[in-house]
Amino acid sequence: MALRKAIVAGNWKMNNLVAEAVALAEEVRSSLGQVRTVDVAVCPTYTSLYAVGKALEGSLIQLGAQDAYIKPSGAFTGEISPQMLLDVGCMWTIIGHSERRHVLGESDALQNAKTRFALSSGLKVMFCIGELLDERKANITNKVLERQLTLGLAGLSPENLENVVIAYEPVWAIGTGETASPEQAEEAHVFIRGWVAKVFGDASASQMRIQYGGSVTPKTVEGLFEKENIDGFLVGGASLKPVDFAVIVQACA
Ligand code: 13P
Repeated sequence: MALRKAIVAGNWKMNNLVAEAVALAEEVRSSLGQVRTVDVAVCPTYTSLYAVGKALEGSLIQLGAQDAYIKPSGAFTGEISPQMLLDVGCMWTIIGHSERRHVLGESDALQNAKTRFALSSGLKVMFCIGELLDERKANITNKVLERQLTLGLAGLSPENLENVVIAYEPVWAIGTGETASPEQAEEAHVFIRGWVAKVFGDASASQMRIQYGGSVTPKTVEGLFEKENIDGFLVGGASLKPVDFAVIVQACA
């Protein structure tokens, strides 16, 4: 909080047909389009990116995708490249979301390749990490985070890191209504910032914005944002409700 410019992003996941996405974007734009003190981004599905980008044109709301492949073009059926995302107006892509890791079975190595290629193509990356409930219960949360960071961000330079935001999203908190407590989140964020300091140096660590994600709501946002190492949020369910999303952003303003 306060030390770094907050960043709040809505991950719309696999929701909304084009007309619905545009309507949502227009509501987000009318309530938040001029907010300067917080970076605000929305990440619709691929099929809505172009239309949402048009609807947000001239506002300060940034456009992001939910994933990006590791090649610019070619025989990769079903995939979308960073170049295509830039072409429709994206500034960001999410990489390594828990649903890609755990529902689609994607590896740390693939998240690393995606992160590197997205960055070298000119996209900024929201890089997601987080432990499963069993891993938290077994007291290996930090081990899991360290593995995801070490493998996922391997080969990046401190300059690359300026275009990365890390999203801590404990898997047990995603879509469950069970938000991590401010203390649980802060503890993980401190660990993550410490890891960045160890690997990339203190300057990178103090600049790194670390979002929290997992059942963030208007009710839970304030307690979380009071914590020194929580620099914003990656919001799922509540980002589909424009009023709730606006309250979350305003809490960080
Ligand atoms: P929820 O806010 O719905 O828990 O989702 C969080 C998330 O996965 C954002 O990427």
